[in-house]
Amino acid sequence: MKKPMSFSNIVCGLDIGTTKVAAIIAETNDEGDLQLRGLGHCPSHGLRRGIVVNLEETTADIERALQEAEREARVQVSSVWAGIAGEHIRGINSRGVIPVTRQRSEPIGEVTDIDVKRVVEAASAIALPMDRRMIHTFPQEFIVDKERGIKKPVGMAGVRLEADVHLVTAAVSSMQNIYKCARRAGVTVREIVLQPLASAYAVLTPDERELGVVLIDLGGGTSDVAIFFDGTIRHTAVVAYGGDYVTRDIAHGLRTPLESAERIKREHGAATEQAIRQDELIQIPGVGGRPPKKISRSILVSIIRPRLEEILTMAREEIREARCLELVTGGVVLTGGGAQMPGIEELAETVFDMPVRIGSPDMIGREEPFEPQFATGVGLVRYAQEQSQGISGNGNGSWLKKVGHFAKQLVS
Ligand SMILES: Nc1ncnc2c1ncn2[C@@H]1O[C@H](COP(=O)(O)OP(=O)(O)OP(=O)(O)O)[C@@H](O)[C@H]1O
Ligand SMILES: [Mg+2]
Repeated sequence: MKKPMSFSNIVCGLDIGTTKVAAIIAETNDEGDLQLRGLGHCPSHGLRRGIVVNLEETTADIERALQEAEREARVQVSSVWAGIAGEHIRGINSRGVIPVTRQRSEPIGEVTDIDVKRVVEAASAIALPMDRRMIHTFPQEFIVDKERGIKKPVGMAGVRLEADVHLVTAAVSSMQNIYKCARRAGVTVREIVLQPLASAYAVLTPDERELGVVLIDLGGGTSDVAIFFDGTIRHTAVVAYGGDYVTRDIAHGLRTPLESAERIKREHGAATEQAIRQDELIQIPGVGGRPPKKISRSILVSIIRPRLEEILTMAREEIREARCLELVTGGVVLTGGGAQMPGIEELAETVFDMPVRIGSPDMIGREEPFEPQFATGVGLVRYAQEQSQGISGNGNGSWLKKVGHFAKQLVS
């Protein structure tokens, strides 16, 4: 069979989720735009709470999603940018200190690009156990002598340069399982990217990141949190609960199998009473040969709401513990499959007591925005495009270019 044409500027994002595996193939042009070429997705079978627990099933699902995307894109991909999440992810804050480089003739030095790189490296040089690896390094702010809160220290005069960085680490075993499944499915992993970081690339605006915003990706197995302010990612957390728990509650409450509970949730579910009509009835299938029965839709809401409230409250607690709650004046952006639940915006507004919107990513080549469940996949492709453009590129959204660049250097 003739091999399809291959493009050098093709990027592929692979979101290996607990509910679905999604592959998104896009083409970049010289202006740094992204054009969708292919989307493939299928139900996921080999993950639990965001991590791979069955290599064979995960490999098969990756193959299926990739093949579908490749068929639509009419290209073959050999490498992917893959997301990672799960309870094993840890965020740590660290500080590095170096003397500023000084010319012999000068009494004090002037901060250079190299100093910045060195101080970030110094802050990242923490001892990690054998079973953990650094996946991202996010510089927060710099201190030149006693002057704090500096974003761009290059060119400043001083003796001592300090950097505060937020480091994200992952379990080596979880990373290796991703590499392994991808390799068995015929592709190599160019980079492993934290899922909420990828989702942020897909749905946050520059204004929100500047003002301060919380991104919550409501997945099936996990709910991923990323906090931004002053244009930089400040904190990341993974809440090990997601929509699967809502499905389980429905199965339990309505005495119906998980599969039908999932269907009922997607077809009739709502997070608040306000999102439904008062007298609405829904039909639920009978179990064990019994006839289907009709129940009030508000019963379903009374099962769904407390669990979603609990998950959102856990996310809020993460933000409060990170002492970021009062810094996020831009509000909350919800994405991921759970953001497709009617009424979730209103529920989140009551939990967070701040404005909430749903983040639906879009891309050239697609008439309608993607559903929120594709935020991580779309974000991986955007991240990949920025990485391949390099640190000096001037495409849109260079806000994290430096961060990604540091992260890449420190991991490789
Ligand atoms: N229309 C819908 N209404 C309500 N919930 C929905 C809808 N569509 C999907 N979901 C829920 O969203 C969750 C899946 O979201 P998503 O596809 O983002 O998860 P994932 O990326 O596979 O999982 P994770 O990120 O946790 O590994 C499931 O719990 C699913 O039931
Ligand atoms: Mg996900």
